[in-house]
Amino acid sequence: MTSMSGAGAIAAQTDHLADHLADHLAEFRIASEPYYRPVGQEVELFDAAYQARMPIMLKGPTGCGKTRFVEHMAWRLGRPLITVSCHEDMTASDLVGRYLLDAEGTVWHDGPLTLAVRLGAICYLDEIVEARQDTTVVIHSLTDDRRILPLEKKNEVLPAHPDFQVVISYNPGYQSVLKDLKESTKQRFGAIAFSYPEPAIEAEIVAREAGIERGTADMLVRIAQRSRNLKGHGLDEGASTRMLINAGLLIAKGIAPAQACQVAMVLPITDDPELRDALTAAIAACL
Ligand SMILES: Nc1ncnc2c1ncn2[C@@H]1O[C@H](COP(=O)(O)OP(=O)(O)OP(=O)(O)O)[C@@H](O)[C@H]1O
Ligand SMILES: [Mg+2]
Repeated sequence: MTSMSGAGAIAAQTDHLADHLADHLAEFRIASEPYYRPVGQEVELFDAAYQARMPIMLKGPTGCGKTRFVEHMAWRLGRPLITVSCHEDMTASDLVGRYLLDAEGTVWHDGPLTLAVRLGAICYLDEIVEARQDTTVVIHSLTDDRRILPLEKKNEVLPAHPDFQVVISYNPGYQSVLKDLKESTKQRFGAIAFSYPEPAIEAEIVAREAGIERGTADMLVRIAQRSRNLKGHGLDEGASTRMLINAGLLIAKGIAPAQACQVAMVLPITDDPELRDALTAAIAACL
């Protein structure tokens, strides 16, 4: 390989970067519409927030549609979506990028956040509170009016693509003092609240996602409501929409409803024998 220097080298690098971004653009585009049944004003609210490029926090319990919603909105807005599942051991370099040694020497590799900043993607940081606060602060300069990402190791400051947006998910109630967002992180975001849809809408979603009849979906939703009433009486969280869909998927495969509900809605949620009995009784009453 011949080595280049000067303007030629910069042009070649730029071409290389453009090719690399075009590949990624295709990779992260959502080709077909993810099914999302609006529950309230969330679509209009997100639309407006995106037009203002406001960072958005989706708040709500597990399994209530936050991830599906962001996939749907990315599709609607025609933006690529880059999702990062945050965890305790995640470092700022995991988000931003690092130099790695390969056959050609040390080469910079963009992390998912940097790639999203370059592409003008929606960057979805799932379960953001799992990340340590010193990691989370790397999004600060991207989520205020500066909209820049300092690549410290590269000695470069990257301005965000005009279409770039940060979205985070947040399960209220699960946080401890040790695991929460810094006030300065929270206050950069607008928030959209999610909860389980009203029964008729939830049954519509469950019937469609699990491929079961509406009557069966209505029954699963009634069970879920009883389980949600046990929240705070031993259960941290009632059965989510996701759990109902799981029960429905088993029913669609020929498993008897009572057993499907045990597998999908009772055993995963609690180890307490009394609560299991209470849930089983609630299921029997709804069948
Ligand atoms: N409004 C909705 N429209 C369509 N599908 C929905 C809706 N709400 C929930 N679902 C269904 O519920 C499932 C769980 O939703 P999702 O994975 O988006 O939950 P989540 O809020 O991201 O949960 P977690 O906090 O655990 O990540 C989805 O796979 C989807 O099938
Ligand atoms: Mg999710």
